[in-house]
Amino acid sequence: MQVERVRVRDFRCYEDAEVTLGEGLTLVHGANASGKTNLLEALYFACTARSFRTSNERELVRFGAAATRVVLEGSDEDGQHEIAIGFSPGEPKRISLDGAPLERLLDAPHRPLVSVFSPDRLELIKGAPRLRRAHIDQLVAALWPARAATRRSYGEALAQRNALLQRVRAGRADAQSLRPWDLELATLGLDLAANRERATERIAERFVSHAEDLGLDGALTLSYRTRSQATDAEGLAAEFAAALPNDLARGYSTHGPHRDDLIVRRDRRDLRAYGSQGEQRVALLALLIAERDALAAERDRVPLMLLDDVMSELDVGHRGRLADALVKHGQTVVTTSELEHVPGWDADDVARVAVEPLARTTGGALTR
Ligand SMILES: Nc1ncnc2c1ncn2[C@@H]1O[C@H](COP(=O)(O)OP(=O)(O)OP(=O)(O)O)[C@@H](O)[C@H]1O
Ligand SMILES: [Mg+2]
Repeated sequence: MQVERVRVRDFRCYEDAEVTLGEGLTLVHGANASGKTNLLEALYFACTARSFRTSNERELVRFGAAATRVVLEGSDEDGQHEIAIGFSPGEPKRISLDGAPLERLLDAPHRPLVSVFSPDRLELIKGAPRLRRAHIDQLVAALWPARAATRRSYGEALAQRNALLQRVRAGRADAQSLRPWDLELATLGLDLAANRERATERIAERFVSHAEDLGLDGALTLSYRTRSQATDAEGLAAEFAAALPNDLARGYSTHGPHRDDLIVRRDRRDLRAYGSQGEQRVALLALLIAERDALAAERDRVPLMLLDDVMSELDVGHRGRLADALVKHGQTVVTTSELEHVPGWDADDVARVAVEPLARTTGGALTR
């Protein structure tokens, strides 16, 4: 879906404002604390009904207001669409698509995919493996929606196995009773790992090439790491059986794709452990752009990219390369305190949005 407009009411520092996005690049510029990140957050909220910044959603409601409302308008091949989200702390969100109430926005067919770069998201590179697993699972779901169910089914089967493990530990069930579960878990686990490996293959080369363009030197690799050697479900089930003593000692399933990871290496060393902050930033950017390119190649659906404060730490040459990469597919919104930091900022096809304290309270359109 092409996102055309977002209207926000009582969201963070915005009382009432409306922003029109460009067809390609939109630059959101303004002084520190003017509301740039808040605007990206509002766009993300409109696309996902979540924040990328906080899990405490009451922070989203403007100080002194009781509720917030965000409305996103856009179009795709079957016409105009409108997503509206109302939120009042302590109450369920009211989500609607084209006026019809919706339980879960993430399953909605017209929802724009969205991808965020922000300082907080560095965790994806340097944080726990769980974050990268969740991320690659989201990429699988975006690339091949029909395969998204495997992740859920695996999670459910794993929870059942773990529950049974507890019963065995407590002497309330026999270890043999795990057998049938192991085969089911292995069948799902093999599928899950294969989906993740396939998704990783789709982005690995693109990642390396974008990372090099953005100045990350050395021999780079992106790979899916699994400890399993199994090539079929029986093989993985045998590995589960071999891990059983350890599982019983620890009280959870210690082996399987729920322990896998996505690894970025530079000169064979894990960037998570050895990369500098700047290198990790570039890796994150390259990863997100590689994913967008893979989606553009695989599906006709590229994510809206929201990049918060991405230019400030790159030198001029690399800023130019990033700007080139960003305008290749789809829509991108970039925040910056200085317009001049973004090469090509004054081009005719770039939309510029000036964020000013006045504009965010007058109900005025922010687009310049
Ligand atoms: N719930 C809220 N109600 C009112 N104001 C809020 C709320 N949450 C945050 N703010 C204010 O919004 C202002 C703008 O924040 P924002 O993070 O969008 O700034 P920014 O333009 O991204 O700044 P920087 O360039 O420093 O990153 C801040 O001054 C903050 O105090
Ligand atoms: Mg900011």
